[in-house]
Amino acid sequence: MSGATVREIVLPDRGALARAVAERIMELSQQPGDGPLTIALSGGSTPKALYETLSRPPFVEAVAWPRLELFFGDERAVPPDDADSNYGLAARTLLAKIPSPVHRMVAESGEAEAYEHLIRGRIHKRRAEIPVFDLIFLGVGDDGHTASLFPGTRALEERERLVAMNEVPQKNTRRMTFTYPLINAADRVWVLISGAEKRDIVGRLREKRAQDDASFPILRVDPSAGELVWWLDAAAAGTPRRGT
Ligand code: 6PG
Repeated sequence: MSGATVREIVLPDRGALARAVAERIMELSQQPGDGPLTIALSGGSTPKALYETLSRPPFVEAVAWPRLELFFGDERAVPPDDADSNYGLAARTLLAKIPSPVHRMVAESGEAEAYEHLIRGRIHKRRAEIPVFDLIFLGVGDDGHTASLFPGTRALEERERLVAMNEVPQKNTRRMTFTYPLINAADRVWVLISGAEKRDIVGRLREKRAQDDASFPILRVDPSAGELVWWLDAAAAGTPRRGT
């Protein structure tokens, strides 16, 4: 690990976590700057609370949505109306209510090169020839996977391609996913972790982090020049809930 300092921000509960992250997105969207604010959304169920918070006042009015350009960091090989679709969850809870341009990751096509080409065409800021996202959201699974970078899978070792199809035997499926070169070039990487079910893996990750042991996939997320923030609620962080 090159040592991007992981900053942990712990909020009392899932709702407070969603509101805190929504506030930061609103602030980022209102900062002056030329060109779009490029954001890659994560998958799984954790982002649902954030999407719902962003889709309601004050954020649905206050975020400068036309400045945002949205992508996906990974996707299951299913159509958008499938219950497993990361795009589908975002579309139902947020995307239908905002005007931001969105680039669905068409994982069922298997065309990872096409999505990489799209990213290279839309994002002009570069770090060592790699497109730099303003913000990449990630989650973490109870095996320490992130995006669709699962333990023991081939995409973990990908150093050239920025987007890859990855066979995931643990899920008996294949998925499309960002790879570490693209993730670690970002200006900001925010990992959203909530719920008591994540407490065990968070504890194990903290131990491994302290030993500088990047054996879990999420611990190889290490942006060379960007910020790395783990946003947790108290249930996942294992900290007693302060009186709210
Ligand atoms: C996916 C995600 C994956 C997810 C974790 C956490 O497509 O499944 O990208 O990396 O973030 O599995 O999932 P939950 O938010 O459902 O706990």
